[in-house]
Amino acid sequence: MLDWSDTATAVKAPLPIPTSQDSAHPTGLDAIDRSGGRVSIDEKRMINCRADVNQLLPMKYKWAWEKYLAGCNNHWMPTEVSMQADIALWKSKDGLTEDERRAIKRNLGFFAASESLVANNIVLAIYRHLTNPECRQYLLRQSFEEAVHTHTFQYIVESLGLDEGELFNMYREVPSITEKAAWALKHTQHLDDPDFKTGTLEADQAFLRDLVAFYVIFEGMWFYTGFAQILSLGRRNKMVGIAEQYQYILRDESIHLNFGIDVINQIKIENPHLWTSAFQEEVRDMIRTAAELEASYGRDTMPRGFLGLNAALCETYMHFIANRRCAQIGLASVFDETDNPFPWMSEAMDLKKEKNFFETRVIEYQNGGALTWE
Ligand SMILES: [Fe+2]
Ligand SMILES: [Fe+2]
Repeated sequence: MLDWSDTATAVKAPLPIPTSQDSAHPTGLDAIDRSGGRVSIDEKRMINCRADVNQLLPMKYKWAWEKYLAGCNNHWMPTEVSMQADIALWKSKDGLTEDERRAIKRNLGFFAASESLVANNIVLAIYRHLTNPECRQYLLRQSFEEAVHTHTFQYIVESLGLDEGELFNMYREVPSITEKAAWALKHTQHLDDPDFKTGTLEADQAFLRDLVAFYVIFEGMWFYTGFAQILSLGRRNKMVGIAEQYQYILRDESIHLNFGIDVINQIKIENPHLWTSAFQEEVRDMIRTAAELEASYGRDTMPRGFLGLNAALCETYMHFIANRRCAQIGLASVFDETDNPFPWMSEAMDLKKEKNFFETRVIEYQNGGALTWE
């Protein structure tokens, strides 16, 4: 079983720094170079690669391929999870408090649009500029998983009879959610410009900023507090169907996050000139700001809190996670060291050990090599 708790060993291959003139920015769709040679491992690089991006083999970044295989082994569909208990609880008069309903709806609203924003960033911004076929193979797998996650929110809305307009527009209409989405979007918007090209210090740092904003912060920080909220309810036997789906999403997202961290670290190794002290401070500021946005969202979503969950606990968890993410990309912590207020989250991430995490029914997966809930 692969261990995602630590960043995979990156391939150390110092390469010359490309200039904007000698970077081809290949999409893989350019005219075929009939006289071009076969690609060797030494020619492969994460960004600004001048070698043919259509040659998966020979493979250089085995960590990317391993994550592709792990993603395939983790295949699941939201419709395989029963929503009967959730429907009964949601429709019951006193099964949930008003505060719990507010937190659940905002949580669903945040994720419903965020899965789409993350998918669009991968497909329309990252894919073009990540010039390595094994990484692109993983991005294709990740894109499908984001589609499955968006499907999950469609399935939840349909099952519970929620107001679809309300949920899918929260990222525009609920300020604490809008602030987070708008903050992340500003880091992808100019990459989406058809004229944007990597190959300069400024552009390559912009690309790194996008990776940090979406992989480290969106998927690696904000999603984690979102998971903690729903899984906390699941631990109290509330909304167990959604909690089970979130557990599968969490498993997918932990691989997405670790792929992003490996990508960032490998780009740093190959392009050390990008990782200046000033840039490192900028990234630490991004992480600090993101944690503050999450704290505001927590106060808005859980103004009074309820059993086992409140805004203060979520803020502490965000600080704990933020420091962990800093360490994973080689940065100094941004917050004082703190204990994890949700130690059970690490158990929730390890499905193998959690056969009856929510005491929900047991699911059998046809291809579930990595799933052993029996
Ligand atoms: Fe996702
Ligand atoms: Fe993701």
